[in-house]
Formats: sequence, C-alpha cells, structure tokens
Amino acid sequence: MTDSKLIVALDFPTLHQADSFLKKIKGADCRLKVGKELFTAEGPRVIDLIKNYNFEIFLDLKFHDIPNTVNKAIKASCSHGVWMVNVHASGGKAMLDAAYDAIAGSNHKPLLIAVTILTSFDENSFDRLGFKMGLKDQIIHLSSLAKESNLDGIVCSANDIASISSIIKDENFLFVTPGIRLKDNSNDDQKRINTPAEAIKNGSDYIVIGRPITEHDNPLDLIRKINAQI
Ligand code: C5P
Repeated sequence: MTDSKLIVALDFPTLHQADSFLKKIKGADCRLKVGKELFTAEGPRVIDLIKNYNFEIFLDLKFHDIPNTVNKAIKASCSHGVWMVNVHASGGKAMLDAAYDAIAGSNHKPLLIAVTILTSFDENSFDRLGFKMGLKDQIIHLSSLAKESNLDGIVCSANDIASISSIIKDENFLFVTPGIRLKDNSNDDQKRINTPAEAIKNGSDYIVIGRPITEHDNPLDLIRKINAQI
C-alpha cells in the first residue's frame, strides 16, 4: 500500500509490452491504471501480471449500461481484488445506485468513482453533444449525482475541482484527475490539462498520467521526479 498520489495509466496494446514497461518501473512508488485497450486485448491476466509486481490497480473500464448489467460488471471487477473501479456518472442515478450496491454486497470493496465529462472535451466539442447545460454546469450536476449515490468520488479535470467542492462539501469525496501534462505545450487529445503540481494544488487526490510516463526513456526516474513534485 503506497501513499503516493500518482496513478500511472498502463495503456499498452499487449501483455508483453505492459510487462516490458513493468520491468522498467519495478518497485516504483505509484499505483497503476488498467484501461479498455489492455483489458480488452488481454483480459484478467493483466491483473494477475500487475499483482506479481505488487502494484495496486485502478480498473478503469468506465461502465455505462443498464443498471443490472453494470451491477454484474462491478461485481466481477470486485472479484479481481482491485483497488478502484469506475462508471460514467451520465449512466444516471439508478445505474450509479446499482454500482454502489454491487460493491456493498461484495467481500472485497474497491473505491467506486464516477467519470463526469472526459478531459478530452473542451467547451466547443461538448456543445456539439447537444446537452441542455454547458460543460461546467454539467460537470457539477453529474458530480452531485455521484455524491447522492454515495460514490467515493469522481474523475474530472483538476480545473473543475474548485467549483465542484463549493457544491459538494465533503472532504472525503475523492478527485481523480487525468489530463495531466508535464508542460503546458502538449499537443494531443487531452484538452483541459494541468501539470502534476497544479493538479495537487487545485485539490486533486490522485493524478492519472499515461503517455508522458509510458513513452518516456526512463519512466522510473520520471515517476520519482513527479512524486517529489507532489
Ligand atoms: O496518456 P494520458 O495521460 O492522456 O492518459 C490518461 C488516461 O486517463 C487514459 O488511460 C484515459 O483513458 C484516462 N482517462 C482520461 N479522462 C477521463 C477518464 C480517464 O483521460 N475523464
């Protein structure tokens, strides 16, 4: 069990590539996130591989389906002994309740968090979805829905934490923030970005970083540097 606030996104296409990366960061002080790419390609043996390296796991499958299906999917996730799981808050109150019930009824109880609006959206691309509210109001609305269903926290941009905490007054409510870049001049699909130190200053409990670490020549050294900054 680490107290590092860093979660490294293990976004690789194959178990073999994930294992090569894990060999490079063996013993690092962080947690790991397994997402749709690697889990879809390789299945639960990814979880077994990571456990051999003693990292706690955030299983980031962002479920969004009818309540019964999400309930069963979360139960299956719990059986893997992971540290954190998630769903999309836009799945609605009944779906969030079903996810919560799955955890309440499982022997192993991971943290359950909800994705609000993906950090790859900016105001323009969000407007094109046709929601009634603007991006910022929608994020606050979805965060409140997650809170009402007793979830442990949300995934959001570190830029959104101040406005959400002004509505949700619970210091135990967790903010997990992707969209982290080491410099402000990144040019990929993430739009609402922060540096690690900015994200923590804004109130992030856990920062999620993928490509800046997985594509780095010396990821172990970079993980140490980021831990020192946060
Ligand atoms: O490479 P990068 O640092 O952009 O990776 C961010 C990770 O966090 C990816 O695995 C992505 O799927 C995930 N994520 C995100 N935005 C969210 C939720 C999860 O970028 N709102």
